[in-house]
Amino acid sequence: MLSESPAPNDLIALAREAATRAYCPYSGWRVGAAVAFAETAAPHPGANVENASYGLTICAERAAICAGVAAGGRRLLRVALSCCDRDGELVAKITPCGACLQVIAEFGTAETAIEIDGRGTFRLADFLPRPFEADSLEG
Ligand code: THU
Repeated sequence: MLSESPAPNDLIALAREAATRAYCPYSGWRVGAAVAFAETAAPHPGANVENASYGLTICAERAAICAGVAAGGRRLLRVALSCCDRDGELVAKITPCGACLQVIAEFGTAETAIEIDGRGTFRLADFLPRPFEADSLEG
């Protein structure tokens, strides 16, 4: 099992690069994510993929996490997020949506780092202090 994870700046750089590949004809928000898992050597990028139905849109974080899990990742260490608008301006106010936080909680811990381009680094617990998790299913 690998315990090294990429440097924070590398993860943000990968998220920025992934944002350039976003499919976002409806919102114009190019969102890129990069995630580091304990079990996989290289981080996994993802971008938002919108849909004409709107509701079937997949966020960048979930796209990246699904790629990482499919590659064998299970213990999520860090998430980086970068977003720019139609004009290419950085959107520093972005935060992971509730659905993405819940998916981050599935593979991460309260301490999993969430780095937001232009905004800073947070812990999952800052955004989602009491996730619904496996324990929640026990009677
Ligand atoms: N989006 C993400 O990719 N991640 C988030 O955490 C928040 C929102 C995307 C979904 C949609 O394509 C666009 O941003 C505007 O909501």
